[in-house]
Amino acid sequence: MLNFRVNRQACTKCGQCVADCPAMIIAMENGYPAIAPEKEASCYRCQHCLAICPPGAVSILGLKPSGSRPLSGGYPDPDKLELLLKGRRSVRRYQDENLDPALLQHLLEVAWHAPTGVNSRQVRFTVVDDKDKMALLREEVLSGLTRLVRENALPESLSYYADFIMMWEKSRYDVIFRGAPHLLVASAPENVATPQQDCLIALSYFELFAQANGVGTVWDGLAKRAIAELLPETRRTFGIPDDHQIGYAMVFGKPVVRYARTVQYGPALIHRVR
Ligand SMILES: Cc1cc2nc3c(=O)[nH]c(=O)nc-3n(C[C@H](O)[C@H](O)[C@H](O)COP(=O)(O)O)c2cc1C
Repeated sequence: MLNFRVNRQACTKCGQCVADCPAMIIAMENGYPAIAPEKEASCYRCQHCLAICPPGAVSILGLKPSGSRPLSGGYPDPDKLELLLKGRRSVRRYQDENLDPALLQHLLEVAWHAPTGVNSRQVRFTVVDDKDKMALLREEVLSGLTRLVRENALPESLSYYADFIMMWEKSRYDVIFRGAPHLLVASAPENVATPQQDCLIALSYFELFAQANGVGTVWDGLAKRAIAELLPETRRTFGIPDDHQIGYAMVFGKPVVRYARTVQYGPALIHRVR
């Protein structure tokens, strides 16, 4: 039940909700937008109708326009956004401190607004929200990897993990999680339209918003492969559902480092189709 409602006093009959609906299920009925009951199942639940209505006359899924943030003039200026995109760095040195839980919750809620294929919205954020839990998980993963090294059970293509274990044993230097206090794994059910892409986009949103808030992040392919490929039993420890595809992992926390300037990558690889 979509609960599609139109406030007839406010509706100007402009038809923008009709024109913008990606499922094309809104039609004018007696002069006002409506969704026929037999079309409700085709709704993407994307809320474009609520978002586009200039006077805020449309509500859907029990959501009122007054609960949304108005958009006029609210975006960051492009130069600031460019600075964030170019100034974002992979952070590999972290303070041994938890993030403020309210900030962490906020980062995740904002990342949750990332687009997903056919708006499936099934990306699950598995988060290690406490540095002491992280220390236990680090121990578990690193001791699992140590066992694989001892048993000579690392696949040839991932034999370089043995070097990371050596560094951990020798100097307690953690290459895999970079000593970060927090870990985020994005996963999604195998059976949604685009599980991998949904996870990567959500993590990109998370990373950029985190860095805008002074939180360091690094995409963590080493942790992802350790969890998803080398030690699949750790999925249970992390509580990642069996029917989920692990999209990627990212570690994050308060950085020790502070970058003073952007880097200078050469011209973009652009191929213009003739
Ligand atoms: C998919 C992906 C996986 C990555 N995996 C790791 C990793 O396991 N460990 C690490 O230290 N950095 C990892 N990185 C970070 C890259 O090395 C980094 O993005 C690159 O060197 C450019 O540096 P920058 O992010 O500071 O611009 C990864 C980045 C991406 C996009």
